[in-house]
Amino acid sequence: MRIVIINGSHRKNGATALILNEMYRQLKKYSDVDVQMIHVADLELKYCVGCGSCYKTGACIYKDDIENLSLSIAEADGVILGSPTYASNVSGQMKVIIDRGHFVMEQLLYGKYAICVTTYENYGGRDSAKILNRLLSYSGAKISGTIVSRNKFNSNPLEDIRLKENIEKVVCRFYRDVIRKRKYLLQSSKHFIIFRVGIQPFVMKKGSQYDGIITHWKKRNVAGGISDEVW
Ligand SMILES: Cc1cc2nc3c(=O)[nH]c(=O)nc-3n(C[C@H](O)[C@H](O)[C@H](O)COP(=O)(O)O)c2cc1C
Repeated sequence: MRIVIINGSHRKNGATALILNEMYRQLKKYSDVDVQMIHVADLELKYCVGCGSCYKTGACIYKDDIENLSLSIAEADGVILGSPTYASNVSGQMKVIIDRGHFVMEQLLYGKYAICVTTYENYGGRDSAKILNRLLSYSGAKISGTIVSRNKFNSNPLEDIRLKENIEKVVCRFYRDVIRKRKYLLQSSKHFIIFRVGIQPFVMKKGSQYDGIITHWKKRNVAGGISDEVW
């Protein structure tokens, strides 16, 4: 089982990192799990320039760290996305990953399980979690759990015993979901509608301009039930 954890805070020892490190530690207890922790602070990332090349060719024009990150995610069984709350939103670094990571169009998380983690100090932690969760579900993931943690800046969220217990519970459920391929019928139905009514017809109408996207869908067997004539 391969799991990728992304810390969207520049602070590698901040509140978000401490929670994600605890999740990493919990996952490491399972002998069949290979976990990769990625800190945005270690990545070289340019902004998306909106050229649309990735839709056409399937890859970004920039040769920085984004394609390797997308590849790690595409090969994983589960992802954990964590971000601090900045102005009731995710961090700028996380937004760059969202914009450039081909998440929604490519259905990068199709068939995968996910956990969303946000931290905040005063207000807006739920807003940033909503943003991450929407990204996860639009990208095809099934969400095993969400953690929204309120802490004083520079304090250790893990001093809260209830949070630690919750982390353990959520990670355990996530692991079991991947093993048992839990269906999450409501989430799957919502995703089916979003994909079939919104994303797929939009992409098909674009024709060869979106060839790269269709190649990725075929490779990952996205909407595997659709016949070849429809493609
Ligand atoms: C630029 C910036 C904007 C922030 N905006 C908010 C906010 O809108 N609401 C809030 O409750 N906390 C806000 N915070 C506080 C952080 O979300 C909070 O301290 C978070 O736990 C920091 O995570 P980290 O230690 O992993 O970086 C902000 C912090 C910074 C640096």
